Amino acid sequence: MASCSIDAVRLPTPSRSRADSGVETPSAHHISAGEYYATQPPPSTLEADMQKIRQFIGRHKEAGRKVVLITSGGTTVPLERNVVRFLDNFSAGTRGATSAEYFLKAGYAVIFMHRQFSLQPFSRHYSHSTNPFLDFLELEPAHHSSAPSSPLNASEMTNADPLITVRSPDPAKLRSVLAAYKDVKSRGTLHFVTFVTVNEYLWLLRAVAKEMNILGRNAMYYLAAAVSDFFLPLDKMSEHKIQSGKGSLVLEMDQVPKILKPMVDEWTPHGFLISFKLETDSELLIPKARAALDRYGHQVVIGNELHRRKLEVVFVSHTKASEKATEKWLRIDEEAVNRGKEIEEDIIAELVREHATWIADGPS
Ligand code: PMT
Repeated sequence: MASCSIDAVRLPTPSRSRADSGVETPSAHHISAGEYYATQPPPSTLEADMQKIRQFIGRHKEAGRKVVLITSGGTTVPLERNVVRFLDNFSAGTRGATSAEYFLKAGYAVIFMHRQFSLQPFSRHYSHSTNPFLDFLELEPAHHSSAPSSPLNASEMTNADPLITVRSPDPAKLRSVLAAYKDVKSRGTLHFVTFVTVNEYLWLLRAVAKEMNILGRNAMYYLAAAVSDFFLPLDKMSEHKIQSGKGSLVLEMDQVPKILKPMVDEWTPHGFLISFKLETDSELLIPKARAALDRYGHQVVIGNELHRRKLEVVFVSHTKASEKATEKWLRIDEEAVNRGKEIEEDIIAELVREHATWIADGPS
């Protein structure tokens, strides 16, 4: 089995006095992606995760299938090495989990790189908070004379045990979700990999992107995760739980390097890359999305405003005919949402079309 290409790591010597005091002198600086990977250690699970991902990519490359990496959910920034406190980023993982289902439906193989315990494709419809699955299960009186009739409990039940039946308020929906889930499982087109911290996210993203390079233009990246902008490098982190007896806590965090540039230029120069831009001020959405497209030179930025993200998004991209980036809004109304329509269906349909055109227009 091939080994994973993880760059050498140099760990700085921890500085106890800086770290344990929780007080910093103002010396925050911008570090490059190269410096980041040279100083922050890879997660211990990276090698094992990558072996499975390598196999998944190899299998779908052989089948000639397009593969999309979806990142989903928020990253955390631990404040201590033995972590008790951490900063978190807003995201339930709805955008990523919903999008995964539509990509699978469109025939893509999906690597679903998500924050541990955030929403996942298929099971999201029956999450513990919105649709607790146990509420769908009923205990029925036992049928003494016959053998167990339900495959659910055939192995363990005695004739005296009650049967378990499923009573969904919307059985047609449950059947359709279950059928799609079973189909994806039997085809093996969905692979899960998890992160929690921004460090785990950054190491995984680079390793997966480099691996997906072998897919050429059949590789797509859909970066919907909400990624921390600031982090505490290892040498600034307290070893143990920060003590509260010292009064207020002052933290100075370093900026997380902008990784879209090396991703586009070095890690995966042939892939089709979509980033997201989240703003709370809608006036900033288009200028910031345009700036990201110009700075990183990838294919599409999808802008979304926090409170309207389920109703409208804006695609900012370069069309072949025009040098200037163009904008295209996708919108659905509240009524459609109440009927069960999801804007991700339209987002993915648009991206699948754009990806196909981009492949057709590119070098053979
Ligand atoms: O999960 P939901 O609750 O449905 O919410 C979905 C969402 C609003 C989080 C999602 O639609 C969204 O907008 N995600 C991106 C939010 C964000 O963090 O944007 P950003 O400006 O920090 O980053 C820009 C892009 O670069 C993003 O695609 C991000 O995934 C990527 N990025 C950013 C920094 C970094 N170091 N690495 C990255 O990959």
